[in-house]
Amino acid sequence: MLIKKPADILYSEITPKHIYMNRRNFLAGVPAAFLGARELLSPSGQALAGTKLPNVQKSKYTVDEKQNSYQEVSTYNNYYEFGTDKSEPSGYAKNFKTEPWTVSVEGLCNKPSKFTMEEILALAPLEERVYRHRCVEAWSIVVPWVGYSLSALLNKVEPASRATYVAFESFFDRRQMPHAAGLQFPYVEGLRMDEAMHPLALLCTGMFGEALPPQDGAPVRMILPWKYGFKSIKSIVKIRLVGGQPPTSWNLSNAPEYGFYSNVNPRVDHPRWSQASERRLGELRKRATLMFNGYGDQVASLYNGMDLKKNY
Ligand code: MTE
Repeated sequence: MLIKKPADILYSEITPKHIYMNRRNFLAGVPAAFLGARELLSPSGQALAGTKLPNVQKSKYTVDEKQNSYQEVSTYNNYYEFGTDKSEPSGYAKNFKTEPWTVSVEGLCNKPSKFTMEEILALAPLEERVYRHRCVEAWSIVVPWVGYSLSALLNKVEPASRATYVAFESFFDRRQMPHAAGLQFPYVEGLRMDEAMHPLALLCTGMFGEALPPQDGAPVRMILPWKYGFKSIKSIVKIRLVGGQPPTSWNLSNAPEYGFYSNVNPRVDHPRWSQASERRLGELRKRATLMFNGYGDQVASLYNGMDLKKNY
């Protein structure tokens, strides 16, 4: 029997690029219900920006409000690695390479692990959650994100009881991000352990039923709907369980203006502007900002007894 050694296999025998590219285009048009997760992934097993995510379930953590359009959510972004102007990330992040990708979950836990994107996508059922998202600059959007509670990932590594905070770190590579400016990189963020384990804390891999586009934080980011948008760190490569409050990018850059908690709070103004109202993208009128962005029933108890003016 003739067994081909790898060196004997010609490149022409491996599926040529134009065929799998066509297959990708073909798959994009097929209803997700007919496809398994693997078929929606690229040859290396990763979700590609813009491909449909399979078997996405509706979530109970959803607000019944008019959603912003895909166009609005993907062209008005804060992603300083790809420029400081909101119109820049959609252009500068176009060729951002998001595969292969791994997320290392490490620190104070029994089972530190590196997860591939394929493992992340398969770890828990994907849910569509329509969340209000309130930026510290007093604009807001409503987005159908896709993902599952961060707690599902954290539980996999079995956090130690000494782990009281969670530190996050974004990908950074100056060669791919020549327009990065305005902050120290890599971008870092943090949560208290009980905040990170709260079911609303979303580990997000998609929006509008599709894998995230680069400018919105592909391939995986956080979404924390009761906090100002800057807590929702994009393109995560490392999650570390730690025993003390970790540094956060905006606090490092300007501590008097940006605190660790950054809960949406209409009663505590930003030193340079009011936080009492906001403008939804696409609307002219202003609307009143709600305490914890309207998620108070779910999250207020996390902050019982805390002075939210001091812990801004
Ligand atoms: N994550 C990284 N890595 N870099 C960033 O510059 N900007 C933050 C946050 N996550 C940022 C980030 C800010 S300021 C906001 S308001 C939200 O992402 C914006 O998310 P969006 O562009 O999806 O609306």
